[in-house]
Amino acid sequence: MATERTFSILKPDVTARNLTGAVNAVIEEAGLRIVAQRRIRMSDAQAKKFYEVHAERPFYGELVEFMTSGPVVVQVLEGENAVAKYREVMGATNPAQAADGTIRQKFAKSVGENTVHGSDSLENAGIEIKQFFDDKDIVG
Ligand code: CMP
Repeated sequence: MATERTFSILKPDVTARNLTGAVNAVIEEAGLRIVAQRRIRMSDAQAKKFYEVHAERPFYGELVEFMTSGPVVVQVLEGENAVAKYREVMGATNPAQAADGTIRQKFAKSVGENTVHGSDSLENAGIEIKQFFDDKDIVG
C-alpha cells in the first residue's frame, strides 16, 4: 500500500457549528494525519474555479454560494491509500445514504450542506492541494 496525500475541506456548516475538532477527531481516529490545515474565507473566484467541473450542473450556483457563505478549513491529509480511505471516512455524498460512523452520517444536514469535501482521485488530489497550499506549508 502506498502513502498518499488527499485534499479535504471542512465546509461552512462545520465552522458555523463549532464542529472542526469533532470532524478532525473522526479523521485522526481513522488513521489519517492532518499534515496541513488553514481556516480561510473562500472567495467567489476560488470556489468557482474549484468546482468548475460542476459548472453545468443545476446546483453549481447554490454550491458556490454555500462554499463562500462562511469560513472553511482546507486540509491536506496523509496516510495509506489516503484518497480512498478519506472517501470511506466521509461517507456517501448524500448524508441520507451515508454509512453509520461516517462524517456525513454523523454531521451532515443535506446533499448541499454535506460537511466535507475529499478528492476523488490521486490526480485530482494533487491539483486541488496546489490550489490552496505551497509545498512548504505541508509538514509530513
Ligand atoms: P463535494 O464532494 O464537495 O463535490 C461536489 C459537491 O456538489 C458535493 O460535495 C455536494 O456538496 C454538491 N452537490 C452534489 N449534488 C448536489 C445536489 N443535488 N444539490 C446540491 N449540491 C449538490
